[in-house]
Amino acid sequence: MHSLENNEKVLEFIKTHLNDTLPNVALALSKRKDLPKDHILNQINGIQKSKSKFPFLKDYPDYLFGSKKNISQASSEICANFKSTLFNGTKAVDLSGGMGIDTYFISKFFDTIDYLERDEATFEISKKNFELLGANNINCFLENSVDFIKNTSNQYDLVYIDPDRKVDNQKVFKIEDSEPNVLELLPTILSKSKYCLIKLSPLIDIQSVIRSIDLPIDINILSVYNDCKEVLVSIQGDGWIHCRNWNNSNWQTFSFRLKDEKAITMTFADPQVYLYEPNVSILKAGGFKSIAKQYGINKIAGNTHLYTSTNRIENFPGRTIKIEAIEAPLKQKKQQWNLVNRNFGKDIGWIKKNYQIKDGGNKFLYACRNREEKPLFIFGSIIS
Ligand SMILES: C[S@@+](CC[C@H](N)C(=O)[O-])C[C@H]1O[C@@H](n2cnc3c(N)ncnc32)[C@H](O)[C@@H]1O
Repeated sequence: MHSLENNEKVLEFIKTHLNDTLPNVALALSKRKDLPKDHILNQINGIQKSKSKFPFLKDYPDYLFGSKKNISQASSEICANFKSTLFNGTKAVDLSGGMGIDTYFISKFFDTIDYLERDEATFEISKKNFELLGANNINCFLENSVDFIKNTSNQYDLVYIDPDRKVDNQKVFKIEDSEPNVLELLPTILSKSKYCLIKLSPLIDIQSVIRSIDLPIDINILSVYNDCKEVLVSIQGDGWIHCRNWNNSNWQTFSFRLKDEKAITMTFADPQVYLYEPNVSILKAGGFKSIAKQYGINKIAGNTHLYTSTNRIENFPGRTIKIEAIEAPLKQKKQQWNLVNRNFGKDIGWIKKNYQIKDGGNKFLYACRNREEKPLFIFGSIIS
């Protein structure tokens, strides 16, 4: 069983080694057989990671951290905080509690929430942490949540589930690869709850989710500084896809419906004065025509997800570039460029090597292809 005490000797060691790398901490611990090695490594790793991932924890110096896996699987404060605003009500349940970050944030919008976790060490730590955080409307159950939800007579307003991935390190993965298998469990969940919110990997294929669930859903795609972090499926929904990107302490949001996307006729144009690169949530959602229609911009080519306009569009959800030159690809000997590859037909390493492009500086080079499939270099400066 995990040692949950931070005695004076342990606290002293943690304080001294707080800014060391984990291999150096492990080395120092190898000479201190009197100290609980795994526990201390977990605390130092947790404190280091929480600075960016869970900054609210700086107000709770006695917070206990579990394994590296617990911390890496947990939602970040930014994402947990966002998803907690999607639903509210009387009674919720989190079927895959883990480190409890999502449970804690969701608990603020419900009278009570049940936290389920089957791993004992994870469960014990989270239970203590909920007390420390003063979250006394969280009921903790050390139990297999599949059995729990099948057998409970409770009725919930919301079932939340953030399943494990059965197979890690895959490029694309399907909803059936989750543990517990959400697809199998869904009929049971929906017989016990008004709403269900499912967190899926940023690697999930959105179209396959829509096909597999085959119910009215909304999808929220959350990116943080243009790095896709979570795909959230809300049941019941109305066919909306909300593409969100956290930037400048704000969620920038672009929303569309898939049925409208299908009906839009795309307009194309060669690069004009401004170039637009939608943020990764929009690219992930496949809102390629909707973004062009809503902002009145033209696409460069069918498979080149870059857009252009003559007049500047304000507040575009992504990067806006003022075009300075458009050329057939040539070797770049002098200047440094931030190289972006969009459907150039070769990988970025090949482009850099072949055209002698040095990475860096503050100017952009977009390597892409136009409607005639001709390779193009578009040079420009970032505006926003
Ligand atoms: C991805 S993590 C959840 C992280 C959590 N949302 C957070 O923010 O900290 C999934 C957790 O679900 C637990 N889990 C997986 N299958 C379970 C089951 N059948 N019953 C209970 N817990 C389960 C795992 O042990 C793991 O801790």
